[in-house]
Amino acid sequence: MSNYTRYTFAERPDRAEEADALCPTVWPEFMLQDLVANSNWGYLTDEFAAFQFFLCDESDAIVAVGNSIPVTWDGSPETLPNRGWDAVFEQGVANLLKGIAPTVLSALQAVVVSGQQGKGLSAEVIRGMQEIAAQHGLGALIAPVRPSKKSDYPLTPMERYIRWARPDGLPFDPWLRVHHRMGAKTIKVAHRSMKIPGSLADWESWTGMRFPESGKYIVPGALNPVTMNLEKNLGVYIEPNVWMVHEISDRLTVDS
Ligand SMILES: CC(C)(COP(=O)(O)OP(=O)(O)OC[C@H]1O[C@@H](n2cnc3c(N)ncnc32)[C@H](O)[C@@H]1OP(=O)(O)O)[C@@H](O)C(=O)NCCC(=O)NCCS
Repeated sequence: MSNYTRYTFAERPDRAEEADALCPTVWPEFMLQDLVANSNWGYLTDEFAAFQFFLCDESDAIVAVGNSIPVTWDGSPETLPNRGWDAVFEQGVANLLKGIAPTVLSALQAVVVSGQQGKGLSAEVIRGMQEIAAQHGLGALIAPVRPSKKSDYPLTPMERYIRWARPDGLPFDPWLRVHHRMGAKTIKVAHRSMKIPGSLADWESWTGMRFPESGKYIVPGALNPVTMNLEKNLGVYIEPNVWMVHEISDRLTVDS
């Protein structure tokens, strides 16, 4: 990683807020409304500062950010939760409060800032998480992965989408491909990884769309259709992710 320098938020607390503020700029507005994230994010920047990091280029500008949380996992595919991202975030915080020692690191977010995308930086973010896991003696990097092109195919079930491959045999999806190239195994779909509820007015303001009747809608940036219920004045988006696992040490291997 010759051209980039990695700093954790613990090493550079003076720039943690700046790094954190860059992330929302790459997401559709509705993705910033996850209730688990919004209730718990402060733990990342405070108690888990050693597991949050950013990459700086040669001019010291922040070009990418990685967020992760240490959790416990026994190596069994069955125990990776269906509520993927939300569940792992809640577990990490609960373990902290109960004093339970973690065994693995879970990825939460990888962001390459807009003007820096497409230069191969995403692998450096994953490498950062792998190295931080190793430094802390954690046996694996687990990741509820959000495939970056799935939003172009919202009608395709995730189980089918993750099997799409290019002629060279690598995953069709660019972000799954990066993880795969870096040694990750695809384990299974986390069907209810995030839950984003909102009133119709919320959804209209988040998306710029109108929802004149109840039903399912294709919303730009969403991986699956979003369900709107006018009687309940409720729109709910359930985001599926894909559990992938990078083995870090021989002490924890994925059961197969
Ligand atoms: C997903 C993301 C992290 C990728 O980072 P990046 O540094 O731009 O990606 P890279 O340059 O390393 O490219 C990785 C792969 O994606 C491909 N790719 C990059 N941008 C692409 C695009 N707009 N369309 C299609 N493929 C693209 C690259 O060609 C490369 O594929 P390859 O294996 O064939 O070489 C970045 O786009 C991002 O921050 N997106 C918003 C947040 C997000 O979705 N994070 C991931 C989930 S937490």
